[in-house]
Amino acid sequence: MSTNPDKLLVVNNLATTFNTSAGPLPAVGGVSFDLNKNETLGIVGESGSGKTVLARTVMGLQPRTNVTVTGSVLLNGHEMVGVSEDEKRKYWGTEVAMVFQDPMTSLNPVMRIGKQIDETLRVRLGMSKNDAKAKAIELLELVGIPSPSQRYSAFPGQLSGGMRQRVVIATALACSPKLLMADEPTTGLDVTIQAQILNLLEDLKEQFQMSVVLITHDLGVVATRTSRIIVMYAGRIVEMGTTREVFTNHRMPYTRALLESSPKVSNPSHTRLITIPGRPPNLLKLNQGCSFAPRCAYATDRCHQQRPELQIAEEPGHSFACWNPLPSKREAATR
Ligand SMILES: Nc1ncnc2c1ncn2[C@@H]1O[C@H](COP(=O)(O)OP(=O)(O)OP(=O)(O)O)[C@@H](O)[C@H]1O
Ligand SMILES: [Mg+2]
Repeated sequence: MSTNPDKLLVVNNLATTFNTSAGPLPAVGGVSFDLNKNETLGIVGESGSGKTVLARTVMGLQPRTNVTVTGSVLLNGHEMVGVSEDEKRKYWGTEVAMVFQDPMTSLNPVMRIGKQIDETLRVRLGMSKNDAKAKAIELLELVGIPSPSQRYSAFPGQLSGGMRQRVVIATALACSPKLLMADEPTTGLDVTIQAQILNLLEDLKEQFQMSVVLITHDLGVVATRTSRIIVMYAGRIVEMGTTREVFTNHRMPYTRALLESSPKVSNPSHTRLITIPGRPPNLLKLNQGCSFAPRCAYATDRCHQQRPELQIAEEPGHSFACWNPLPSKREAATR
């Protein structure tokens, strides 16, 4: 698979375990997927399902201690697992960049926004002071910041939430990455601004010829903006397929529960209204069967005893991990 030139990212059996005082916590439990060049992939799942840890592991950003990462991440042919920080650093910014979940922590509040972009350009690309400033203003303009030359000298706190997120995106794009990972890029923004930021990401993806991983707990966000979706539960992929299949022909009861509890378009994006009945899994005490079984209306004895692996569905690229799946469209039609 790694030799396919269309694949920008090939993730194979990736697992991230935090060694906590309460025992090993498998935040990502063996995940495999790939991403084509110029593709937008959505990663969805409840809070705590492992979306952020997965994204950070793909980037090679994890605490230095108390974490074990196994498996493989081939980013444009470069292995990111088990290599030194120096090696990974070579790819940060240019091959892969991330828009982090909390925009306030990704911007330094006491540093002018232009300087924050400058610094990336000077350190990563070795640009001169003047060139970096000109490029930073260009980037601010590109992400739709009005009067970019003036805003260059503003502090993050002087900008609205939407403008700050545009700055975060400009910083991520500074070194023209081939893959942009956007982790809940619209959390905390109101609906209108949310749509603007998502449209901006879509435009920039085309301009920069990037691949994008869009991480969200809100299925409304990925519905029209991704070609494929990965559904995560308890650190594993439980369903994946084309966006259309996942929305219209999902087989895993958890996917259905997610869709049914997805925030309505009229609500602000930060309303964390995902309330699937039952308690989210305790990763320190995962059962031996399907981790969703304790909350699943369709669970059988087997579901509690044996973990289902991903199995291929009817449509190409669609797979799901479930012993007692919902009927497919075709099965439903013949009943
Ligand atoms: N540094 C860490 N040490 C120990 N456990 C961690 C650490 N970081 C994350 N976790 C745990 O890993 C699991 C997955 O967390 P993660 O942040 O990836 O979830 P998420 O899907 O991004 O959720 P959200 O939608 O709330 O952002 C959680 O149980 C979390 O508590
Ligand atoms: Mg997260």
